[in-house]
Formats: sequence, C-alpha cells, structure tokens
Amino acid sequence: MVNQPHGGRLISRELTGQEREQAIKNAEKLQSLTVNSWVVSDIELIGIGGFSPLTGFMGQADYESVVDNTRLADGTIWSIPITLPVTEEQAKNFNIGEQIALKGEDDVIYGTITLEEKYTYNQEKEAQNVYGTTEEAHPGVKKVYEKGNVYLGGPITLLNRPDHSQFEAYYMDPAETRQMFKDAGWKTIVGFQTRNPVHRAHEHIQKTALEAVDGLLLNPLVGETKSDDIPADVRMESYETILKNYYVKDRVRLVIYPAAMRYAGPKEAILHAIVRKNYGCTHFIVGRDHAGVGDYYGTYEAQQLIAQYEEELGIQIFKFEHAFYCTVCENMASAKTCPHDKENHVHLSGTKVRGLLRNGERPPKEFSRPEVADVLIKGMKEN
Ligand code: ADX
Repeated sequence: MVNQPHGGRLISRELTGQEREQAIKNAEKLQSLTVNSWVVSDIELIGIGGFSPLTGFMGQADYESVVDNTRLADGTIWSIPITLPVTEEQAKNFNIGEQIALKGEDDVIYGTITLEEKYTYNQEKEAQNVYGTTEEAHPGVKKVYEKGNVYLGGPITLLNRPDHSQFEAYYMDPAETRQMFKDAGWKTIVGFQTRNPVHRAHEHIQKTALEAVDGLLLNPLVGETKSDDIPADVRMESYETILKNYYVKDRVRLVIYPAAMRYAGPKEAILHAIVRKNYGCTHFIVGRDHAGVGDYYGTYEAQQLIAQYEEELGIQIFKFEHAFYCTVCENMASAKTCPHDKENHVHLSGTKVRGLLRNGERPPKEFSRPEVADVLIKGMKEN
C-alpha cells in the first residue's frame, strides 16, 4: 500500500481541458501580480498536491500556528510557511474577495489566487523560528528579509505547470508516482531528498535503506538552489550515470522534486518528509545535517526534531549516522559500524570536491564513483 497523503486526501488545484482554457482567458483580464521562481514552485506544488493538505497560500491563522507550533491551525503537522509576499504598496491594490492572476517573471500566468486575507508578519520571528537564526548570511533567511512585508492568503488554482521539458522523462506528479508504485507492486518505498550529486555516502545510505524496503524514489530537488550548488542539469546526468552503473533498475525510480531549496535544516526535513509522503513514500531518509547550510545546525538536529513528530507524521524516518569510507574496513561505514581511528576515514569538504572537479580532477573513488566524477567535471567546464 502506498502511503496516505498528508491530511488524508491528495489535493488537486489544477484545471484541465476547456475549464482551464476558459480560466486562462479570464485570468488575462484580472489584475496580476508578478512572482519569483520560489513562488512559482510553490504554486505548482500546491496545485499538484505535493503540499497536501494545503489548497493555497497560508492565511494568518495557519501561518502563525506553523511559525509558533510547527502545525497548521487545525493541528496537522507543518513546518515551513508557504506564503505569498507582496509589498505594502502592492497590497493596497488588491481587495479581499478578488481573484488575482499570478504571473511568473517570464509573463506566463501560472495560476490565480482568490484573495481571502492580507496580513503583516514579523520577518525576524519567522527567521528565528523556522531557520533557527536571524543572520542574513543564511541563504533562506536572506530570502525572508528580501520579501515584502505583507502576505496574501487564499486558495489557488494552477493553470500552467512550469516548464520541465528539460527533465521531461523524470517529471511526475504525486498522483502519477503513487500509481507507478502500485504498478510496480511496491508496498514500501523509501524517498531520498538531495540537492547534490549522489556520492558514495548517499549511495551507501540509500542501498542500506533499500535492503529493508521494496523500492527507492530518488527525488532530487531541481528548483532554485544557492549559486555554488551544482546545477540541476549536471546533477541529473550524474544520477542517470550512477543508476545505470550501480543500481538495480527495477528497484529505483528517478523523479524530480520541483521545489526551491530553503536550507532550513530540521524544519525543512519535516517538509521534505511530508512531500514524499504525498508522493506515496512510506519511508524517508534523514542523514547527517539534512537540508543544512554552513554550521547553522547540529549534525543530527534534523533527526532529533523529526523524531518528535514521527509517529504523527505517518512516514517512517530512516535516520543515518554520518557515513564515510574506511580504508581499514575497506568499505562504507559509520561510527556505529567502524571501530577504526578517524585518520582512516575518507572525508572531503564540498569546497574541496568542487575545487578538484573544477581542475578536472576526480575525487578519490572512495568518495565518488569515477563515472559520476567524469560527468561533474564535464558539467563544471560547460557551466
Ligand atoms: S540536502 O540539503 O538535500 O539534505 P544532501 O544532498 O547533501 O543535502 O543530502 C541528501 C541526504 O543525504 C540528506 O538526508 C543528508 O542528511 C544525507 N547525507 C548526505 N551526506 C551524508 C553522509 N556523509 N552521511 C550520512 N548522510 C548523509
């Protein structure tokens, strides 16, 4: 049995066929609001049910409850506000009850919102409670501070999905992944979030999890990431390569996760688990410093926070210790399984790895599969 959606029902806020065409015509006559790529990702994820049970951008009661209590106003666990920010000036133009067309920076109308609420909020409080810091150096907090001071709340309708033609073969919505798992006969599915190429440590924890379940959903995030992360197109090629060379074809599915990366560590781990539950996963991997950045979060803080909600969340969390290659064991291991001193463990920082790749050098094969390294070296040259 694939998992129940969060809140019990898979949401669809998307129009299709004639109804959609009519709605697009109507939307062209509405007042419009230009939104950035983060908001476009959120419109899509609400529309296709990835963010079930959300049906739109949060109103004040849900927003405050999420920021204060990690729950929607009705008590359902939710960890990150999904909001539509505007400036005070912009807010004055929109009236409660009005429909607004939501346009991307490319002028495409991605959807509409029926405006139910306009409310102000405290940016520092949001930063502190969601990201655990008020420092602007944090890439997620920086985004919070760049937002307008007013949030618009209300249900949305998705009229155009963003263009994923670049990764068409790997795009599926939650209804489709759920059906795919059923067709494969998988009853237990582990979801894996990543914003990086799959290195040996990732491969190790995925395969360890796979020993205990029927299938693996490799679900890389391809929405906006910070500029020094490896671009999604290069990563996608690296995933194809590692799957082809090192995975059992019938046990893995590669599907993109079209969200923006927030780098909110523990709180984002909860969001990541909820979304994968909506895609049908029964299990989800949280390893070391999940969705972390810099040294804002403790290595196992995400695991500790999610453990508090795990039973209620309705998705089982596979928690993994920091994994590494041990030259004495001659295999991948962690502090749980390897008795040898640290100097025997192969550790490379992200900065070090990027430096090697940029110079056209493969990182050690204990860190990254050579086929993956070659794709990354080529990709770094082209970008
Ligand atoms: S994330 O921002 O998407 O979480 P990343 O792609 O690095 O970053 O990690 C994907 C998943 O693998 C996360 O659950 C993370 O905790 C886990 N992970 C990454 N590296 C390791 C490692 N060396 N040992 C254990 N878990 C890891």
